[in-house]
Amino acid sequence: MPRSLPQAEPFRIKVVEPVKMTTREERARKIESAGFNLFGLKSTEVYIDLLTDSGTSAMSDNQWAGIMLGDEAYAGSKNFYNLQAAVQETMGFAHVLPTHQGRAAEHLLFQVLLKEGQYVPNNMHFDTTKGHVLNKKGLPVDLVTAEAYDATSPYPFKGDMDLQKLEQFLTEHHAQVPLVMITITCNSGGGQPVSMSNIRATSQIARKFKKPFFIDACRFAENAFFIKQREKGYEDKTILEIVQEMFSYADGCTMSAKKDALVNIGGFLALNDFEVYQVASSLGVLFEGFPTYGGLAGRDMEAIARGLREVVEEDYLTYRIGQVKYLGDKLLDYGVPIIEPIGGHAVYLDAIRFLPHIPQHQFPAQALGVELYIEGGVRGVEIGTCLAGRNPSTGDHDYPKLEMLRLTIPRRVYTNRHMDVIAVACANVYERREQIGGLEFTYESPILRHFTAKFKRM
Ligand code: F0G
Repeated sequence: MPRSLPQAEPFRIKVVEPVKMTTREERARKIESAGFNLFGLKSTEVYIDLLTDSGTSAMSDNQWAGIMLGDEAYAGSKNFYNLQAAVQETMGFAHVLPTHQGRAAEHLLFQVLLKEGQYVPNNMHFDTTKGHVLNKKGLPVDLVTAEAYDATSPYPFKGDMDLQKLEQFLTEHHAQVPLVMITITCNSGGGQPVSMSNIRATSQIARKFKKPFFIDACRFAENAFFIKQREKGYEDKTILEIVQEMFSYADGCTMSAKKDALVNIGGFLALNDFEVYQVASSLGVLFEGFPTYGGLAGRDMEAIARGLREVVEEDYLTYRIGQVKYLGDKLLDYGVPIIEPIGGHAVYLDAIRFLPHIPQHQFPAQALGVELYIEGGVRGVEIGTCLAGRNPSTGDHDYPKLEMLRLTIPRRVYTNRHMDVIAVACANVYERREQIGGLEFTYESPILRHFTAKFKRM
């Protein structure tokens, strides 16, 4: 029998960014002077940077060529019309409002639709979405399926909305709910996908209560790939067909183009309702820019348009999701506890099982992040107690059910040799886990404390 060929990167590398190697001693010093906060490191002090998959993608030659075609017109840029066409082809929404990044689209949407004291149900809010709801004095409500909180459950669509809970919530509070949202894939729950049947059913419930239904679409193509792999009836559909069906159930979306549009900056709000568009676009002039550029240069819009068409290519997604799985499988082989199944854009180390001797108030995921940096120059990001912040009424830490270190894989940037380094570094930290202690604050800012906090070792 001939061997089956291994799957390698579906691209050639034309431009490289050299990275400086550091020694373990240097890293131990640098993280200590950064107050044991990974956000305090300079990128040049990091060998493999897994802080985020946002704005860190390598663009294609086709996207770079598009950069040269930016017309930079204040009004009516040709690049805007190309972006609008790309959004209409993939997502099908009538109106497109470019914004400088995803959170700006959230800002405009909630400015228009949300009033003080109203609820926004979502499977699981991302921090900025939650932040914008709170900023309007709204109440974010997470209604994700209970499986999402079970780190080892093999449930294939842990991003699913709990439909019963949603129906019940709307029955009780519908007068106070201006819209329903769903985040695909579900970043805060481990990069877990939402099934097509769940998107459809969520939309039906929203329609029954006459509520607009919006998708937080950052990682829409990765979500579609999981549907193709895991959901019956979608094996033979193209990714584009799956994407079009997903969005056909929604009234609009917020999009951070820094993820699945394969660019370094940008986003948009896309929707069908002309009246909402009109109000959002006039507010947009104030916060973002004229509606045909929204805080972006023409060249940025061109790169987004091209990225949206590239990201639905199946060879790309096979490689992309395959690389994240490659890392996750290696970690499982080494016995390192991770959130399963392996998500779309990141592998999430399960700090509760990794460092069971460190209580949550001593920030086990943060301590793990520090050790992984010292071990291999790898920078992850804490998604745990530090990020969760404090409960405004009790003042105590708002302990999350999952305590994780996210190893977020930038798109088309690192090779599988880098994944090997990450896996060995994690395995080494795991082997010496009993010697690792917790952390305590030396500085804590009252808002978004994870960015600026400083710690000391216990
Ligand atoms: N929604 C989700 C699900 C996200 O993951 C992000 C960003 C946003 C909205 C906001 O988009 O950054 O363009 O303003 N997530 C990044 C991350 C920051 O690292 O997960 P943005």
